[in-house]
Amino acid sequence: MAAMDLAYTPKVAAATAPLYGKVAAVVPQIEWPVHAPYVEAINRLKREKNAVILAHNYMTPEIFHCVADFVGDSLALAREAAKTDAKVIVQAGVHFMAETSKILSPQKTVLIPDLRAGCSLAASVTGADVRLLKERYPGLPVVTYVNTSADVKAQSDVCCTSSNAKAVVEDIARERGTDTVIMIPDEYLAQNVARQTGVKIITWKGHCEVHERFSAADIRAYREGNPGVIVLAHPECPPEVIAEADFAGSTAAMISYVGDKRPKKVVMVTECSMSDNVAADYPDVEFVRPCNLCPHMKRITLPNILHSLQTMTYEVTVDPAIAVRAKAAVERMLAVGKPKSA
Ligand code: 13P
Ligand code: SF4
Repeated sequence: MAAMDLAYTPKVAAATAPLYGKVAAVVPQIEWPVHAPYVEAINRLKREKNAVILAHNYMTPEIFHCVADFVGDSLALAREAAKTDAKVIVQAGVHFMAETSKILSPQKTVLIPDLRAGCSLAASVTGADVRLLKERYPGLPVVTYVNTSADVKAQSDVCCTSSNAKAVVEDIARERGTDTVIMIPDEYLAQNVARQTGVKIITWKGHCEVHERFSAADIRAYREGNPGVIVLAHPECPPEVIAEADFAGSTAAMISYVGDKRPKKVVMVTECSMSDNVAADYPDVEFVRPCNLCPHMKRITLPNILHSLQTMTYEVTVDPAIAVRAKAAVERMLAVGKPKSA
């Protein structure tokens, strides 16, 4: 592979100037000469290879605003993976997201720039654990958060994300005529959904290492230090945090809240890059920024996205026998909320 010239030439500066305009509020000018050559090279290579970059809302602003073709929460990324025409998907996110893309689009090449981009929730449960749970609670439907391996999805009746968990649990409980479901592996998401739906939930002791660190005392301290601040929290936070927040929703739902309501001052109780990405779009909103970094999401960088496209690595594959069963659970989730004839 020929070495690529990554100099910040006047040509690169001119080609990337409109993109810098999108992130100028959150990326210091002194950093742009480092990012710009990668941005230009990635966008060129993407076209040459018929590739799309699907980026999660936790990507850093230079990825989120400057090289991504599609950005969103887990649900939106899964929907996009199912419908894109591109030959190659580069997943700027974590491994379970890339697996979900492969499950939905087995004919496409799905790449992840760093195979170590995992997730504490996905690591907390195995397919064998789910089989044991089903033996212990025979007949109960299993609702599985998308933040899991393909093997775990394959053992499940239906998947959910944080944006459709309530609807999915209500849908399967109604269809199976049960007041109890198994919902794994996020204990806090399950407790938050149980409170919203009244459905009894048997859960698992998995936690998101980013969101579990927030406490109710943190939220009270943000309010004390910032009178009038609106608090938005992700449902992976402990229930005591959700109880103190003004609004709880998926990463996409939090972004929509800011876009629709334009609060004067807001705090997003979630991963750090969210506030940066949203602040770039809404300079009129003040962001209070206590946050926790997701070390897995932060493994994805401009240099390794470029490397991924140059070398077509690291390809994510799923055993076809597992993929077929996992796909049924993911597709069932995608159908929830759609008109039955659609
Ligand atoms: P969203 O589906 O809300 O984007 O959440 C994914 C995730 O990993 C949050 O920690
Ligand atoms: Fe997993 Fe939490 Fe990171 Fe999301 S933020 S990928 S749930 S560890």
